[in-house]
Amino acid sequence: MKPLIGDSLEPCVLVIFGATGDLTHRKLYPAIYNLYRDQLLPDTFTVVSIGRRDKSTESVRQDVADSIAKYSREKFSAADERDKFLSMFHYRRFDFYDDEGYRSLAQFLQEIDQRHNTQGRYLFYLAVAPEHFGQIATKLRDHGLTSSQDGWRRVIIEKPFGYDLASAQQLNEQLREAFSEREIYRIDHYLGKEMLQNLMVIRFANSLFEPLWNNRYIDHVQINLSEIEGIEGRGPYYESAGALRDMVQNHMLQLLTLTAMEPPVSLEPDAIRDEKVKVLRALEPINGKNIISHTVRGQYGAGVSRGRKVAGYREEERVDPNSQTETFVALRTEINNFRWAGVPFYLRTGKRLPIKSSEIIILFKELPGILYFKDFSGPQANMLVIRVQPQEGVFLQFNAKRPGTKPEIIPVQMDFCQNCREGINSPEAYERLLYDAMRGDSTLFTRWDEVEHAWRFIDSINAAWKEQKVPVETYPAGSWGPKAAQGLIARDGRQWVDPERIESP
Ligand code: BG6
Repeated sequence: MKPLIGDSLEPCVLVIFGATGDLTHRKLYPAIYNLYRDQLLPDTFTVVSIGRRDKSTESVRQDVADSIAKYSREKFSAADERDKFLSMFHYRRFDFYDDEGYRSLAQFLQEIDQRHNTQGRYLFYLAVAPEHFGQIATKLRDHGLTSSQDGWRRVIIEKPFGYDLASAQQLNEQLREAFSEREIYRIDHYLGKEMLQNLMVIRFANSLFEPLWNNRYIDHVQINLSEIEGIEGRGPYYESAGALRDMVQNHMLQLLTLTAMEPPVSLEPDAIRDEKVKVLRALEPINGKNIISHTVRGQYGAGVSRGRKVAGYREEERVDPNSQTETFVALRTEINNFRWAGVPFYLRTGKRLPIKSSEIIILFKELPGILYFKDFSGPQANMLVIRVQPQEGVFLQFNAKRPGTKPEIIPVQMDFCQNCREGINSPEAYERLLYDAMRGDSTLFTRWDEVEHAWRFIDSINAAWKEQKVPVETYPAGSWGPKAAQGLIARDGRQWVDPERIESP
C-alpha cells in the first residue's frame, strides 16, 4: 500500500545524478528543503549528489544552502535547522561512465542502509542531459543497484524523453532493461503545478461544469503557454528541439488531455492515465494534407521585451545564423470522440511573447440569436478560464444587464484567485513530484504509452513541415507571434483571447 498524502514516509535515499547542474540548484534542492519544512520528508532521509566536478561534501552543502537562499520559496529560519537539514547531503564525484564510481556508490548506499535503516529504498534522479539517461540506467543495473529484495528502486527521468518516437522507443527499451514500467517516473513538471492537479477536481467535483463539458455547449478551447524569456543560453538544446518538441509534445498535450479526458473509473494512477491516453489516440492527426491550414511556425526576431531591446533568435549564442528552428507554434486540432467531435482545440506557445502566462480557455457556444441576443447590445459567449500561472485560479465571464434603462448587456466576471489569498504559498511543482515519487504514486508522471502517442502526433507534424518545407515566420520579440497565427484561428471566424485582457474590471 502506498502511503497517503501526509502519512509518514519510509526512510529512503535520493541519489541525484547531475548535482552541479542548473535544475538541481534551481528546483531540486529548494524542493527538498520545502518538503523538509512542511515535515513531508521521511524521518530518516539522505541525499547523495553525484557530479563530475571535484567537490567536497562541505562545499556541496554550501551549494545547497546558496540555492535555498536564492531560489526557495521558504528560507532558513534558524541556524540549527539549517545545519540539521544540510547534514542530510553527501557528495560523490564520478564520471557517469566509470564503473569504479558505481562500485563505490553501491558501497556507500549499503553503509547508509546500515546506518539509517533505509533498507535499499533508493530513488535515482537523472537530472542530466538526455544522452546519459540510458547509459546511467544500464550502469546502475550492472552494479546491482536496480533490484532490491526488501526495499524499492525507482528512477525519475527528466525531459526530453527522446527526440522523436524512434529515439523515445530506444531510450525506453534501454530503461526497461534496468527498471520496470512502474519503477520509471517520467517527469512533466507541468503535472506538478497546482492548477493541473486542480483541473480534475474542478471538472469532476462540480455539477456546475461537467454537464456542459462537451460539444453541445462548448464552441472551442484555447490553450496558451506564453513566455517572455528567450532561450536563455540553451542554444544547442533548443536548436535540436524547437517549440514543438520542447513545449507541445509534453506540457501542452498534458493540458489538453486533462481538459478533454473522460472521468476515470477511480483515482488510481493507471485509471487516470488510461483516460489520458484515449484522448491522445483520438487526436486528429496533422499531416501533409492539413499542415498549412492547421499549423503556424514562428521564430522571434529582434524586438523589445519588457522595455529593453533584445536580440533575435538567430543572434542568440550557439544558434545557427540561418536557423529554421521554431520558437513559436500555433496549431489547431480536434478530438475524434463523441464528447468533442467538431470542437477545435487551438494551441499556442512561444518564447519572447509579451507576457508569461499559461491558461486553458473554454469558450462556450452562443445562445440562439433571439431575445437578448437580438434586442440588446453587447452579449458575448460565456468564457471559463483555468489559470495555471502566474495567477492560479478560475475565471468565469457571463452576461448581465447593465444597470440603467438602456437595453444593454455587459460581460461580468467571477474571478477565483487561489494564490492571491494571504497565507497561500503554493508548493512548487517539483515538491509535489518528488514527494509523490517517494510515496510511490505515479499519477502525476507520464506513462510510456502517453509519451508514445504524443510523439506520433508530433512526428507527423514535423515530417509534414519538413516535406513541405514550411518556413518559419519571423515575429518581433515582444509581440504575439507571426501574423499567420491570427489567420489560423480567424479562418474559423474566431480569435485568440488575449491573456492580458482576462481580468475583472
Ligand atoms: C521547460 C522548457 O520544459 O518548460 C522550457 O524546456 C520552458 O523551454 C519551461 O521555458 C517552462 O516552464 P514554466 O514552469 O516556467 O512555465
